[in-house]
Amino acid sequence: MSGLFISFEGIDGAGKSTHIEALAQAFRAQGRTVLLTREPGGTPLAEVLRTLVLNEPMDAMTEALLVFAARRDHLQQMIEPALGRGEVVLCDRFTDATFAYQGGGRGFDLNVLSTLEQWVQALDSSPEGRIRQPDLTLWFDLDPALAAERLAGARVPDKFESQPVEFFSRVAKAYGQRMDEQPARFARIEAAQSREAVGQAVMLAVQHKGYLA
Ligand code: TYD
Repeated sequence: MSGLFISFEGIDGAGKSTHIEALAQAFRAQGRTVLLTREPGGTPLAEVLRTLVLNEPMDAMTEALLVFAARRDHLQQMIEPALGRGEVVLCDRFTDATFAYQGGGRGFDLNVLSTLEQWVQALDSSPEGRIRQPDLTLWFDLDPALAAERLAGARVPDKFESQPVEFFSRVAKAYGQRMDEQPARFARIEAAQSREAVGQAVMLAVQHKGYLA
């Protein structure tokens, strides 16, 4: 069986996390081995980098370099080996988050991000320069004002969660641009619905791709 790579994206408060576990269960019920992981993070080194990125003040370039460094380690240590074994990799955020947060939110140069993406996600097996990308990206799209309501008081906010709503409007717009550029890879999930309806939309999107029966 060939490996499958699915990423989950959206602004903070869009509610993706609860649905990742449900999707993992659905794959396991069909006999698949699932790697549940997240970015930045997923390896001991990448988790250290995550703590820095989420808590320390730094400029946007430093942030971009650290999330891509974390991604490189994660790909090499965890994601590529799991895909090679034919497993299902469910990743809470991947490179679209860098385009959305460092690119859209913080205004860092998208061309530099594209170059880093080409380097970090290069497939050794591909002389034509193909890169590792998710097979499917589930984008939980939610109005930034609604997301801010959901986040308010939920927990102590990290560096990104404490940003104003305008920041998340730029992040959301950048996600939309990524989807426009690569429509075949994306499924947009209307995240303002009830939790049950969002869960159903997630299952439908994965079934529609033929990844779940
Ligand atoms: P998140 O995935 O929302 O986890 P939690 O539910 O534990 O808060 O937090 C990760 C944060 O990191 C989120 O605010 C987005 C940010 N981020 C970036 O800025 N760039 C990236 O490339 C990635 C992967 C995440």
